[in-house]
Amino acid sequence: MFDAKIYSQRRRQLKEQLGSGLLLFWGNDESPMNYTGNPYHFRQDSSFLYFFGLNSPGLAGLVDVDEGRDILFGDDVSVDDIIWMGDQPLFKDRARGVGVDDTRPAAELRNTVKAAIRAGKKVHFLPPYRAKTVMQLGDLLGLRNGQVKDYVSEALIKAVVEQRSVKINEEIAEIEAAMAVAYEMHTTAMRMTKPGILESEIAGMVEGIALTQEGYVSFPVILTINGQILHNHFHGNRLEEGRLLVNDSGAETAMGYCSDITRTFPVSGRFTGKQKDIYNLVLRAQTTAIEAIGPGIKNREVHLKAVTVIAAGLKDLGLMQGDVEEAVKAGAHALFMPHGLGHMMGLDVHDMEGLGENFVGYDKSIKRSDQFGLAYLRLARELQPGYVLTVEPGIYFIPALVEKWAKEEKFKDFIDYERVKNYLDFGGIRIEDDVLVTESGSRILGKPIPKTVEELEEIVGSG
Ligand code: GLY
Ligand code: MN
Repeated sequence: MFDAKIYSQRRRQLKEQLGSGLLLFWGNDESPMNYTGNPYHFRQDSSFLYFFGLNSPGLAGLVDVDEGRDILFGDDVSVDDIIWMGDQPLFKDRARGVGVDDTRPAAELRNTVKAAIRAGKKVHFLPPYRAKTVMQLGDLLGLRNGQVKDYVSEALIKAVVEQRSVKINEEIAEIEAAMAVAYEMHTTAMRMTKPGILESEIAGMVEGIALTQEGYVSFPVILTINGQILHNHFHGNRLEEGRLLVNDSGAETAMGYCSDITRTFPVSGRFTGKQKDIYNLVLRAQTTAIEAIGPGIKNREVHLKAVTVIAAGLKDLGLMQGDVEEAVKAGAHALFMPHGLGHMMGLDVHDMEGLGENFVGYDKSIKRSDQFGLAYLRLARELQPGYVLTVEPGIYFIPALVEKWAKEEKFKDFIDYERVKNYLDFGGIRIEDDVLVTESGSRILGKPIPKTVEELEEIVGSG
């Protein structure tokens, strides 16, 4: 955990931002896999972690803006619990560690909230993303489950997004720690890769490395020779000579801070000429994008720069044609990169996505496009020092999409479908790094993970 002062300062800032009312932060509970006593890995709610720091189930935090009070609700473990869990520190001592002196039994939350509502106070809460939390909030606030979403507080969402978007040095250090784990995950996968082994052997090792560092994976590992399937969690294929392997994986630290890295490399350890051309194009798009990042720059402009590099490169290779700017404006390049350039990253791998993507990535000055491809850009707004974001361009040959567009003759002035058809067994390439916006530009976080053709050819299959 960070120093208690950091959590107190964050809550103080919220009080100033909101001005009045009760701010309710609902901690996550255990979530059963197949029966109650057999839960999934416990993951605390990220906003609860950010403002109240305690990483265990059964807690709720309340910031009473009018009274200037912070309260934590929870219970000490019973002797019965100690038999199964061992001794636990006292709840009041844990609360003090995050700057909260006022602790109350979990069961008292109901009376405290009801009394506040009777006194005419507004209860602000964030959008719940777990069914159980919807039910608990509905029960607490006297709302039907279907009504809960209508009562979430936009003012609280905006205040939380404003704070969580800008990472302080202590948070950057945690993200760097998650990057160090990702370095091991990715270089180990590269060394292990060779024809004949199963994706699952590598994916299991990658996930295991995250666990050995007292953390966890920041999202289910994507490790596949079918990189054209953007979020492919199937790990049952045997690696074959000639294929490319996409490894999109990251870790989260014990405190919940994330990394999210993608590397793509040939199973054989040697890129073919065709693979090298596409790989270097994606790499050029990625480095161009990273160089363009800086304070005051809109991330939508960075995205457009990256896809313009891709469209121009695909034209050089004969897969696209016509005027590059016009092709990008029309969205023709999205046949090859049908996703956005990246997202914020912090306590969530897609940081704060649960609060509503448009609150995080868009604002009054920039509205989400409805064009295929650009519509999936999660972060479009102006960047500020302290933001951490991913930069993850890709080129994919998705047979079903190519077939559909070719049949519709969609953007036929910009796409040479006859040539594209020669790439239908290519797969996909994505390259992703995590970048901090600094006062003067940007910095790639973590120790460099092999990324150039030469670096990859040296390490892949070497161990
Ligand atoms: N790394 C997975 C994603 O960004 O969606
Ligand atoms: Mn990502």
